[in-house]
Amino acid sequence: MNFELKSLTVSSAAQQACDALIVVVSQVFSSADDSLSALIHQALSSGHWESKPGKLLQLYASDTCKAPRLLVAGCGDGTPKSLKKAVEAAAAAIKGVAVRRVVLCFTEAPSAAGVRAAVLGLAEATYVYTTTLSKKEGRRLERCVVGVPNRPAVLDDFQHAAAAVQGIELAKEWGNRPANHATPTLLAGAAQDLAKQTGMRCEVLGPKEVAKLGMGSFMSVARGSTEPLRFVVLHYDGGPKNQAPVVLIGKGITFDTGGISIKPASEMDEMKFDMCGAASVLGTFAALAQLKPAINVVGLIPTCENMPAGNAVKPGDVVTSMSGQTIEVLNTDAEGRLILCDALSYAERFKPRAVIDIATLTGACVVALGAVRSGMFASSDALAEALVQAGDAALDPCWRMPLDDDYAEGLKSKFADVANVAGRAGGAVVAAKFLQRFVGQFPWAHLDIAGTAWKSGSSKGSTGRPVGLLLAYLMAQDIGSLPVAKARSPRAKPSTPSA
Ligand code: BES
Ligand code: MN
Ligand code: ZN
Repeated sequence: MNFELKSLTVSSAAQQACDALIVVVSQVFSSADDSLSALIHQALSSGHWESKPGKLLQLYASDTCKAPRLLVAGCGDGTPKSLKKAVEAAAAAIKGVAVRRVVLCFTEAPSAAGVRAAVLGLAEATYVYTTTLSKKEGRRLERCVVGVPNRPAVLDDFQHAAAAVQGIELAKEWGNRPANHATPTLLAGAAQDLAKQTGMRCEVLGPKEVAKLGMGSFMSVARGSTEPLRFVVLHYDGGPKNQAPVVLIGKGITFDTGGISIKPASEMDEMKFDMCGAASVLGTFAALAQLKPAINVVGLIPTCENMPAGNAVKPGDVVTSMSGQTIEVLNTDAEGRLILCDALSYAERFKPRAVIDIATLTGACVVALGAVRSGMFASSDALAEALVQAGDAALDPCWRMPLDDDYAEGLKSKFADVANVAGRAGGAVVAAKFLQRFVGQFPWAHLDIAGTAWKSGSSKGSTGRPVGLLLAYLMAQDIGSLPVAKARSPRAKPSTPSA
């Protein structure tokens, strides 16, 4: 979908040619003298409509605007969250009908964060997955003009949001694809395609190279599958060569049966989403390529299937990780940490300024935080703070969880340096403690997105989270946004990532 930002008032928006006009009205609405504002005033004062978030008034062939469809959407207090809700309600109402061009305007000037929220809401409510359907009736909406009173004031945030939408939708696409349409090879191919289209560097390692690196832990997970593993290394080079990169590591289990410690049948299909961490890395890189911040970012994606088989890894097997530490695999369903630990060891070579891993890691995190906030664990307070802020700003929130050493007690093993599971208690923290053993000399954070990466039930599907959070974090790392470097105007010279 195409977004465009224009300077428009409500009355000038009413003159735009389009299929539908959405007017977002806050609770502090005061009528202007144009006919559209008068109509809204009348609906409010008569009590026939109220401006609470999500409340909608729909009109057809109103003589107050050029568009055949008019949607008046309440946004209450006008916070970004309320604005998103308002736009989502209006967009949902036009999702199934022949609306190709929409104009969105506001009775009160939205904040920069409000504009971001509106763009995200519009995309969210109109997204359609079609890849594996024979009749591909995709999104009807093609173009959305966002009208604000003062375009320059919110342009940066608007562009950020439009890029975030691209990234979120790429993450949704790969998350939603069934596992037979998103094998490790296909997922690695998606990374290569993305790199080709955007001029980024991408390397894909296969079983031989991974064996040579000594990633015995990663290899043990892949062993039971006939699909060969892949290890993807993506580079976004927007900053100076000598600038230490941020490394993102995404868990890419394209299907998690549990392996020999097999999962129950009910809802096992949802384990196609076990590569949503990897998909979020792809989505974030797609958005970076569009926004071109002056930073360096490396993306690492260990990807394979977790299957039971005659040659699969067995409970009690001891494997040797790239770090040299031996691991007793007590439960083959705790496979995410087994592939991430080797990626964490690999990350050390980039001398990163921060490493963030993103993983649908534990059911325990779903129990702890539900579908609202991702679990966040960090070895550095500064990194934790930056991620919390980024999540709040992007409406993609996370919550910091503890990392006390006492949580690692249960991981002691008689037969290896460490076991891959402990008891059920505090499972999300125990998993993070396991990962922490493999963290080198860099600030590290771990995002457990098991509860936030996809929705179950009738609205089953990938959410594209936490692309919004990651992008907000990375954009704030752009030295161009620090006062000291402001003078050199980083966006004047587009930093072309080297091929
Ligand atoms: N991919 C799952 C985590 C998961 C489970 C995410 C359910 C969302 C919903 C992960 O590989 C897993 O199976 N974890 C186990 C760990 C346990 C064996 C210590 C879990 O959470 O049950
Ligand atoms: Mn598992
Ligand atoms: Zn898993």
